[in-house]
Amino acid sequence: MIELKTTGEIQKMKDACKIAAGALHAAGEAVRPGVSTAEVNRAAEDFIIKHHAYPTFKGYNGYPAASCISINDEIIHGIPAKSRIIQPGDIVSVDVGATFNGFVGDNAATFAAGEISPEAQRLCDTTRESLYEGIKMAVAGNRIGDIGSTIQRYCEERGFSVVREYTGHGVGRVMHEDPSVPNFGTPGRGVRLLPGMTIAIEPMICMGSPAIKQMSDGWTVKTRDGKYAAHFEHSIAITPDGPVILTIA
Ligand code: MF3
Ligand code: CO
Repeated sequence: MIELKTTGEIQKMKDACKIAAGALHAAGEAVRPGVSTAEVNRAAEDFIIKHHAYPTFKGYNGYPAASCISINDEIIHGIPAKSRIIQPGDIVSVDVGATFNGFVGDNAATFAAGEISPEAQRLCDTTRESLYEGIKMAVAGNRIGDIGSTIQRYCEERGFSVVREYTGHGVGRVMHEDPSVPNFGTPGRGVRLLPGMTIAIEPMICMGSPAIKQMSDGWTVKTRDGKYAAHFEHSIAITPDGPVILTIA
């Protein structure tokens, strides 16, 4: 069931989303060669705690940390670790959520560690741009397929591929609400978008094949071919005045 939010609820959600965005920014500032993913996670978690919010991911289905940190061919759900040291040329995807005042904010971005290859840069740029193209389609009266098909076309036209097994989602009082928001699809198909819907749009885009493999830690998801992947996410609200990005620091 899709839970529509009132203007007041969206205002509250903005507070949670602002904290999630601040945490993501803090994590991004911490990303550089020689730093462990545990330290990057710490930067995000400290920000959340300092703002009297709860790190949504911690304990979610048993997940052990405040953020997911996924490097290079890791697409999503990498578990931060002291032993995992960021290397020059790595692309580092950070996904972090905050719960505040009964609402959740969820966002992600891929950061460069030092000098990265032109192709890795193009992957990150395209993934970020595809998120904004998708957001533009999050207009009342459009359908879920308008968002996904736009992201898919944008990335595939540029030679990249879209992960199928994981999608965006409704977000609100809990992290994962209806509807599912795939990064692929058919224009004009799927759930109709209404004012008051709040969704997380999160393209996960690969340089090579979109086939995935699940790691034995039970969380980390990698590309099967070992090529790089990028991930950007915003929580947004669909309003009578168009899409509003909530995860702004
Ligand atoms: N934030 C992720 C998403 O965008 C989910 C993280 S799973 C968790 O849907 F277990 F780490 F919380
Ligand atoms: Co999400």
